Amino acid sequence: MKKGIKRIGILTGGGDCPALNAVIRASVKSALNRGWEVIGIKNSFEGFFNPGLIKKIYADDVAGILHIGGTILGTSSGGDPLLKKIKIKGKEVLCDRSGQIVREFKKLKLDALIVIGGDGTLKIAKKLYDKGIPLVGVPKTIDNDLSATVMTFGFDTAVSVATDAIDKLHPTTQSHQRVMVVEVMGRYAGWIALNSGVSGGADVILIPEIPFDIKKVCKKVEDRYKIGRNFCIVVAAEGAKYKGAGVMVKEKSTAGRVEVLGGIAQRIADDIQKLTGRSTRSIVLGHLQRGGHPTTFDRLLATRFGTAAVRLVAGGGFGRMVCLRPPDIESVTLEEAISKMKQVPLDSDVIASARELGISFGD
Ligand code: F6P
Repeated sequence: MKKGIKRIGILTGGGDCPALNAVIRASVKSALNRGWEVIGIKNSFEGFFNPGLIKKIYADDVAGILHIGGTILGTSSGGDPLLKKIKIKGKEVLCDRSGQIVREFKKLKLDALIVIGGDGTLKIAKKLYDKGIPLVGVPKTIDNDLSATVMTFGFDTAVSVATDAIDKLHPTTQSHQRVMVVEVMGRYAGWIALNSGVSGGADVILIPEIPFDIKKVCKKVEDRYKIGRNFCIVVAAEGAKYKGAGVMVKEKSTAGRVEVLGGIAQRIADDIQKLTGRSTRSIVLGHLQRGGHPTTFDRLLATRFGTAAVRLVAGGGFGRMVCLRPPDIESVTLEEAISKMKQVPLDSDVIASARELGISFGD
C-alpha cells in the first residue's frame, strides 16, 4: 500500500465520450476533499511532453461541468502517443517515449495518476504501470466493448442519441415510402446498433457479430412493402460486415495510428436501391453520438467510477481499473481490463427479443 498521497495527476485519452467531465469532477472533488493536489495533464499523454499542457486543477475548475459533454482536459485519439515518428539519418523511425513520461511524472512530483480511457489508452497505461508509474484506470467508451466492465459510461448516451435519431427518421422515411440506412458507431462491436435499433423500432439491424447477406436484407425490405408497411429502417453498425468480407475502412491503421471505420451505410443503401428499385437514403450519425449532455445513467456511473478511482489510489490499488459489476463498483487488473474485446454474444436475449419481433439481422 502506497502511503502519503499528496499530489495526483489525471488525464483523458482516446475519443471523447459523454460524462468524461463527470468522472473528472468526481475524482477531483474527492481528491481535494482528502487534502490532495490534482494536476491535469491535457490532451492525453501528450501533456507530459509540453509544460504548457500541465495545469493544477482547483474546485472552481470542475464546478458546473457534471452535465457538459467533451472533456475539460482535452484528449487525443491519434494512436499510440508513446510512439513518435522521428528522422534518423533521413529515415523515419518510431521512437518509444515511455521513458520520458516516467521522468516527467517524477519531475511533477506526482504520487499517482488516474487514466481515463478506452482499450487503446488502457494498453498504454498498462505499459507505463509496468515501467513504474503508480496509476489506476477508468474505462471509457461509447462502444461498450470492454469485457471487464458490464457497462462503460457514455454508451447509454450514445444509444439515446441514436434512438432519438431513428425516431426522427421514421416520419420522413415513412412519408416518402423509402428505405433509410442509419450508420452508428461502435467499432468492432454491435452494442450501439443493437440497443438503438431495438429501442428505435428498426426493421433490420446489422452488427459485426452477424455478417449479413444483402439478399436477405432486401427480402426483409420487400416483405414489408408486400404487407403494406411501405418503408424500412435499417440500422447498421459501422463495423457491420457483408458475409465473407471485412469491415469497411476509411483509413488503414499504420504504426501508431488506429484504423478509422465508416462508409458501410452508403454501400448498403446503394445495394438495396439497385436490388429492389426502392428509393433508399443513408445517414451517418457519426460524432453526434459522442456529443450533448450525458444521460442520468452515465452521469451516475461516471461519478461512481471517478470516486472509486480515487479510493483505489488511496488504498494503493495501482495497476487496476475500476469496473461495474452490478450492483457494485469493483476493480480488475489492467491486464484483465485489456485482455478481451466485448462483442455482443450471439445468445444475447436482446438478439432473441429482436428476432421474435421480426427484426432481421440479414442472416
Ligand atoms: O471508440 C469510440 C469511437 O467513437 C468509435 O465508435 C469510432 O469508430 C471512433 O471512436 C471514431 O474516432 P475518431 O474520433 O478518431 O473519428
